[in-house]
Amino acid sequence: MSLTFVIFGATGDLTSRKLIPALYALHRKQKLPAGTRVLGAARTDMTDEAWRNKLSESTPKFVDQAFDERAWSDFASRVHYQRFNIQDVADFQRLASRCAELEGGKDGVRVYYLATSPELYGDAVVRLGEAGLARETAGARRVVIEKPFGIDLPSAKKLNETVHRVFEERQVYRIDHYLGKETVQNLLVLRFANTIFEPVWNRNYIDHVQITVAEDVDVGKRGDYYDGAGVLRDMFQNHLLQLMTITAMEAPVRFEADAVRDEKVKVLRSVRPLSNDDVARHTFRGQYEGYREIVGVADDSQTATFAALRLQVDNWRWQGVPFYLRSGKGLSCRTTQIVVQFRRPPHMLFDANGSLDGDRLVVQVQPAEGIQLHFQTKVPDAGMRLRQTDLAVDFRQEFSGPLPDAYQRLLLDAASGDASLFARSDEVEFAWSIIDPIHAAWKGGAVPPLHAYEKGIWGPSACTPWIREQGREWFDVCPVLG
Ligand SMILES: NC(=O)c1ccc[n+]([C@@H]2O[C@H](COP(=O)([O-])OP(=O)(O)OC[C@H]3O[C@@H](n4cnc5c(N)ncnc54)[C@H](OP(=O)(O)O)[C@@H]3O)[C@@H](O)[C@H]2O)c1
Repeated sequence: MSLTFVIFGATGDLTSRKLIPALYALHRKQKLPAGTRVLGAARTDMTDEAWRNKLSESTPKFVDQAFDERAWSDFASRVHYQRFNIQDVADFQRLASRCAELEGGKDGVRVYYLATSPELYGDAVVRLGEAGLARETAGARRVVIEKPFGIDLPSAKKLNETVHRVFEERQVYRIDHYLGKETVQNLLVLRFANTIFEPVWNRNYIDHVQITVAEDVDVGKRGDYYDGAGVLRDMFQNHLLQLMTITAMEAPVRFEADAVRDEKVKVLRSVRPLSNDDVARHTFRGQYEGYREIVGVADDSQTATFAALRLQVDNWRWQGVPFYLRSGKGLSCRTTQIVVQFRRPPHMLFDANGSLDGDRLVVQVQPAEGIQLHFQTKVPDAGMRLRQTDLAVDFRQEFSGPLPDAYQRLLLDAASGDASLFARSDEVEFAWSIIDPIHAAWKGGAVPPLHAYEKGIWGPSACTPWIREQGREWFDVCPVLG
């Protein structure tokens, strides 16, 4: 099969840090069809050779295994570059000729990867259409669209309409790289390839679910972008809601794109809308000290760099089980984890004070990758004193060696036409419809207050009493990497 990746934004950070290393790793593992080629496109004037040289300097820094020079030079010979401006219609005709020349007239799959700034996605798609580059007369044509997909519901709808004027939905791959992570897919396997978890995966046994995406880094040089977006748009609309849908969804009838996405959409549709009162009570926001001094950030910025939401999923499985979603910058450590907190036993035989925790299943998504089941055991030689211990699976140790970066899986899926791990148009829109009212309420009102926090801790200290008043505790543990 002839396969061509056309990367728009070839000179950018994402291309050098993620896309090229992932494609090289796939080539090295012989997972790409023989003869697969990559055509990078951006405005910078460069030859094929100059781009290859640039990439041969950057790629070794971003691959997780020893760099194989021979595999690299074989891969690099298939890498090409075209000077190209999305704003120049004639450049699309030149791009069409270059693709045809590289493909030697063979029919096959062409994947256009939009890795430029998001404002250019619409124009790029429209011009691909005008230049006939979306037509499937000589093989499949697919477009991968990076995040963010819109900045709110109206802009996401508009972008979806634009995209659908040119591509059919089956040709569109909206990426959320969290779904490409092995541990996230493992959550699906844990739930739907085993029988022991599913019977307890509901309101009868689960007290609540906590999903945390903590970053230890701060906003850095991205003040301009971040001050407009804030943590809600930057992290919740995509990564946190995606993790929540995977945790909460029903079993799809088949592991196929539309069956999986139908179930994810049902979860998003079941999320109870938050009224202004609910926003005051069920959301929490914070901003780290020093954020307003960053270039590009307003002196009186009210943008949240930390947030916690309590969402309810109104269906039979989850009625009354809160989903706590939490994310922030400048926190204690970098960790993404899903904590499923089970109820306590109905009758406490061993615990006179009633202080025993319920069992807990922790799915470590990154940087640790594994699963732990915390449960009560007896402390030896101490009467009937109990202590929580855990059974742990560390995927890296279990399967010896580093796990592949999410982009490897996602690029391969886009090439083979499997959109199961990509967001569908309605999914993106439902996700925005959950986030937009919270964003609007925060913008328009003083509640909840914006709590300041020092960098290097788990967000504002007031977030602990906030969840405690609801009878719960945050699971604030930085993962230990094996
Ligand atoms: N970086 C990441 O880790 C990351 C992670 C997740 C998502 N993303 C998303 O991926 C996208 C790219 O991010 P990035 O960090 O790689 O951005 P970036 O470093 O700013 O790169 C932008 C790229 O777009 C090209 N470009 C700009 N204007 C162009 C035009 N008119 N025509 C053609 N090419 C143009 C730039 O090259 P020239 O100046 O040479 O034209 C450059 O190659 C963004 O939407 C971002 O949100 C990035």
